[in-house]
Amino acid sequence: MAVNEKDVELIVKQILDQMGGAGSSAVSSPSGFGKAASGSIPKTARVAMLVEKERFEVKEFPIPEVGDDDILVKVEGCGVCGTDAHEFKRDPFGLIPVALGHEGTGEIVKMGKNVKKDSAGKDLHIGDKVVTCMIFKDDPEITMFDLNKQNVGAADVYGLLPDDDVHLNGWFSDYIFIRGGSTVFNVSDLDLDSRVLIEPSAVLVHAVERAKTTGILRFNSRVAVQGCGPIGLLCIAVLRTMGIENITAVDGNAQRLEFAKRLGANQTVNFNDHKGIEALTKAVEDSFGGHLADFAFQCTGNPMAHANIYKFIRNGGGLCELGFFVNGGDATINPHFDLCSKEINLVGSWVYTLRDYGTTFDFLKRAKGIGLPVTELITHKFPLEQINDALKTNLAMTGLKIAVITPPGA
Ligand SMILES: NC(=O)c1ccc[n+]([C@@H]2O[C@H](COP(=O)([O-])OP(=O)(O)OC[C@H]3O[C@@H](n4cnc5c(N)ncnc54)[C@H](O)[C@@H]3O)[C@@H](O)[C@H]2O)c1
Ligand SMILES: [Zn+2]
Repeated sequence: MAVNEKDVELIVKQILDQMGGAGSSAVSSPSGFGKAASGSIPKTARVAMLVEKERFEVKEFPIPEVGDDDILVKVEGCGVCGTDAHEFKRDPFGLIPVALGHEGTGEIVKMGKNVKKDSAGKDLHIGDKVVTCMIFKDDPEITMFDLNKQNVGAADVYGLLPDDDVHLNGWFSDYIFIRGGSTVFNVSDLDLDSRVLIEPSAVLVHAVERAKTTGILRFNSRVAVQGCGPIGLLCIAVLRTMGIENITAVDGNAQRLEFAKRLGANQTVNFNDHKGIEALTKAVEDSFGGHLADFAFQCTGNPMAHANIYKFIRNGGGLCELGFFVNGGDATINPHFDLCSKEINLVGSWVYTLRDYGTTFDFLKRAKGIGLPVTELITHKFPLEQINDALKTNLAMTGLKIAVITPPGA
């Protein structure tokens, strides 16, 4: 295929992005790119709308006029989250018709005159790569430094908004329309796959921050991570990146356990190899050379797994439960044996704060720096028109992280 003008422009941009390097501030676009980008903005954008359970339709909507506080972003990619899969299958949030996709990233192609800085105070320019976090309709002045102790729970998020006359509200689309009052981060110094993993990684950065409040997590702690889906695997990578070097991964899937090792687990325990909770506990103990875990992270949505995990933890140890983003039912524990007499320090963790986003950008750079293959978590990539297949692949659990990615040059 002949190299056309657009390809050359893309290559030059890629090189400029790389020159920005890790830790650099916003990569500003040379003059000309902004105009070129906005010059090529189409009149309409394709949006994947979930129109009924288990069916997206790719619809075309006019791109609205960009107001003084708005940003128009050309989407490059967006991860498929368990929440998208829930909504696809059952519509528990009653949002249909809805433009889904909240783990997205893309390039600014147009922005209003009042948009100057991102939510961390970095400059924003046309051509910069961004992600969004929460939308604070009532307090647009809020910054990442105000919300240290609150998580995202009460705020709105692109990709889970009710449909309105803008329609460009989710990241499973060609363009997304970011309105004033949204939090936006300039992440031009991260590659596309890393940017797609920012949102789920922030969940683990937050969980580890919650775990640290117990005072138990130390460099030489023995840590068990139960569940090796994307959440548990990212948990292992975050722990390893922060210097925890004695991690046992527990799951029933041999392939996922293998990947857990590549992301930083030293030992693995496959629960299928051990009949009953005593044998399983013994296997975890053996993995730490005859010691129970100092700390454990529960990363499955299985109530039985919650009940089991107390057994893996030593007296006075800690537990972070983060596996139940949605209600997964009740778990039965013995309050005397599991919690009270063992003096377990238990914390729950749910989503993240804006501050965690900043830490997450650093985590992704450091993980890459120490050679953890975090971006290999993305096992499947689909173009927008195959969004239904992307969701079905997620539900089939044949891969790890599924992403919808705009083909280069499209
Ligand atoms: N706290 C939060 O804010 C937050 C955010 C996102 C997701 N989550 C939750 O995290 C959980 C995991 O997410 P995921 O995307 O990795 O899911 P996933 O379904 O891909 O992975 C779960 C893993 O747990 C394993 N598992 C199941 N039962 C087990 C058991 N008894 N012992 C050991 N392993 C077991 C499965 O084999 C699987 O590999 C979900 O339940 C989700 O609700 C929480
Ligand atoms: Zn998500």
